[in-house]
Amino acid sequence: MITWRRHDLLRDTYERSFDIICCRNVVIYFTEAAKTELYKRFCDSLRPGGLLFLGATESIPNVRSVGLLPSGLTFYRRP
Ligand SMILES: C[S@@+](CC[C@H](N)C(=O)[O-])C[C@H]1O[C@@H](n2cnc3c(N)ncnc32)[C@H](O)[C@@H]1O
Repeated sequence: MITWRRHDLLRDTYERSFDIICCRNVVIYFTEAAKTELYKRFCDSLRPGGLLFLGATESIPNVRSVGLLPSGLTFYRRP
């Protein structure tokens, strides 16, 4: 069950309680400040235990500061 919608990651509001967010090879275009803000928004949008999936070459420095925990290669979990 998937709903497709347009969503500007930098401008639009975020829904809540996602089980998983897949965001591969998108934040590579953003500034470091924008990336940090985005990761915090992703964290807030996940349900507890929810996962963020990034691309293979992407990682989150200081991942705990955005509220997430590493959960395997390119996966991060909201505690
Ligand atoms: C390199 S492509 C990656 C596409 C796909 N995620 C993949 O891994 O094959 C980058 C994508 O980021 C999207 N993008 C860039 N800025 C965005 C923004 N502010 N909000 C949402 N998507 C954005 C572009 O539309 C493009 O589809």
